Amino acid sequence: MSDQRLQGQVMMVTGASSGIGLACAERFVREGAIVHGFDIAEKPAAWAAIEKDAPGSSFTVGDVRDEAAQTAWAADVKAAHGRIDSMLTAAGVASGGPVHLLPTEEWQRVQDINLTGTFLSVKAVIDTMLEQRSGTIITVASVEGLEGAEGGSTYNASKGGVILLTKNLAMDYSRMGIRSNCICPGFIDTPLFQSVIGQPGLETFRDSIMEQHKVGRFGRPDEIAGAAFFLASDDSSFVSGHALPVDGGYVAGHRHGHTKLMGLD
Ligand SMILES: NC(=O)c1ccc[n+]([C@@H]2O[C@H](COP(=O)([O-])OP(=O)(O)OC[C@H]3O[C@@H](n4cnc5c(N)ncnc54)[C@H](O)[C@@H]3O)[C@@H](O)[C@H]2O)c1
Repeated sequence: MSDQRLQGQVMMVTGASSGIGLACAERFVREGAIVHGFDIAEKPAAWAAIEKDAPGSSFTVGDVRDEAAQTAWAADVKAAHGRIDSMLTAAGVASGGPVHLLPTEEWQRVQDINLTGTFLSVKAVIDTMLEQRSGTIITVASVEGLEGAEGGSTYNASKGGVILLTKNLAMDYSRMGIRSNCICPGFIDTPLFQSVIGQPGLETFRDSIMEQHKVGRFGRPDEIAGAAFFLASDDSSFVSGHALPVDGGYVAGHRHGHTKLMGLD
């Protein structure tokens, strides 16, 4: 018997070119799924292995803000397999700045990609999942959707919106066999993370953020993929409407160094 826990599942992933979305696609394939990726960026070399290991998988270039593109993508997947088992929404951008310094257009761009893009991904698959009376929706928010962060503004607001959207999906569709959950990553070493805190001159800022991760390091994309696998698999069959921090203890509380004095370091 195969120990691949997502054998034959038809799974869709946005933001599948890079970072967390790519790691989730790769993990799903290792678990036996057929994966369909979507990203505004070109198909990266890593997708050759996905398409080889999971025949029937595909990659579509498109913008999550484009409702017609997402609808066509979902229609293609349904036409190919007759069903859609899972949608994971990892497409997103980082941005921010205190409100008085943030152009309104930038506020709107981030809402459009991170929040409305997530809404459109779900909208593209929900009718099919309702017909099936089954499916899993896994959104990707952030610890910064659970609490404030200096200069967070539009990013944090978009991610807070994703969390509450996900809870409402669980309210509306759980009885129809569709489970919806949200992953709230801490800081994960990806191209997006590098663009925010990997720049020279930001070392002190980066160390201070790392200190908030109680395990003493930043996360890896495959550690988010592990949580995504759990939320897609039957092991989470009684989990719906949950916002799951996968954050090395980032939101566990504030660390002030007291226990360092007692040798806990
Ligand atoms: N890396 C972190 O520390 C971290 C922490 C918390 C949450 N997140 C969230 O995780 C998700 C993935 O981030 P990542 O770190 O893997 O970043 P990443 O930049 O490596 O990947 C994001 C992907 O989204 C794609 N994308 C951006 N705009 C798009 C659009 N309009 N349409 C389609 N695709 C688009 C990008 O091309 C990219 O491939 C994002 O939603 C991000 O906010 C990341």
